[in-house]
Amino acid sequence: MVEPISWPDVERLIAEASSTEQLKQFRVAWLGKKGWITAQMKELGGLSPELRRVRGAELNTLRNHVATALDAKQALLEDAAEHEKLLRETLDLTLPGRTPVAGLLHPMTRVRRRIEDIALRLGFSLAYGPQVESEWYNFEALNIPKGHPARDMQDTFFVDVPGLVLRTHTSPVQIRSMQDRQGALPVKVFAPGLVYRRDDDATHVPMFQQVEGLWLDRHISLGDLLGTLTEWVGELIGPEVATRFRSSYFPFTEPSVEMDVGCAICRGSGCRICKDTGWVEILGSGMVHPAVLKNGGYDPDQVSGFAFGMGMERVAMRLFGLDDLRLLYQNDLRYLERFQSGGDAV
Ligand code: DAH
Repeated sequence: MVEPISWPDVERLIAEASSTEQLKQFRVAWLGKKGWITAQMKELGGLSPELRRVRGAELNTLRNHVATALDAKQALLEDAAEHEKLLRETLDLTLPGRTPVAGLLHPMTRVRRRIEDIALRLGFSLAYGPQVESEWYNFEALNIPKGHPARDMQDTFFVDVPGLVLRTHTSPVQIRSMQDRQGALPVKVFAPGLVYRRDDDATHVPMFQQVEGLWLDRHISLGDLLGTLTEWVGELIGPEVATRFRSSYFPFTEPSVEMDVGCAICRGSGCRICKDTGWVEILGSGMVHPAVLKNGGYDPDQVSGFAFGMGMERVAMRLFGLDDLRLLYQNDLRYLERFQSGGDAV
């Protein structure tokens, strides 16, 4: 049996309620089908008409009051809960935003693009050849016959298919470019690409990148070689760089020269890097050998030209000030990201 209630009691209980759950219980206890007010209503039938009218009006008023008070309190509690939730979920707009991760170019890609840009400006076009190359293009066509000691220097990776190797240099692209031009002049290309050798130390990796250059025309001389390479290396490394040429030997050029640049570490006074000479070799070059011209389909009596080959990692080491080339290929982002900024020169 539910307790009899009076309006002041009800008003106080509702005011003191602290949860909507409690309000629900009140609603059931007072207004529900078995609630107190409902029960009182049911008893009206047993009263005299006079009393029933008075009591009925009283109960009606009470029921309306109770319902209104419950609704009001319910709204109040819901508002408070909402408010508290909003406070809890406040966005702190002073937190720093998340910086999107931007991709970056590999230092070698930047060096290669820089080399290509300069080449294009000097009027060369870009050429490419396969990395799995025939022994003929890689050696014989370049005047390096079987058994030639120059092959030892490039002891390489052979492929299961006889006669194929991973190319040891970009020089085979010289022959391919000549063949592509089918005797037309000039042949004026830069050929960047990956090459493979059985080398592995701080300044050599088994897979590295070279860029080959070839310029053939009717009257190309050693002077063109010296002038073009001095200009090109100056653009690449900086016009103030000291350069010199030394005579050398390559089977595919005659005469052959190597180009040195002043040592960036000791600036010429001599150190471990330059083996106390003050100079570091940067590329090999020379006037294209008549046998090579013939193999490419050109007549050595009509046409002359020069070629050169350069390791691009050495240039990267110089431009970025690296002392261990292997780090370039370990793909440790923490290392590579160091080159994202500050590489204005590249
Ligand atoms: N192919 C040579 C090497 O990998 C580099 C080279 C030397 C390329 C002289 C040339 C050249 O075109 O003329 O060691």
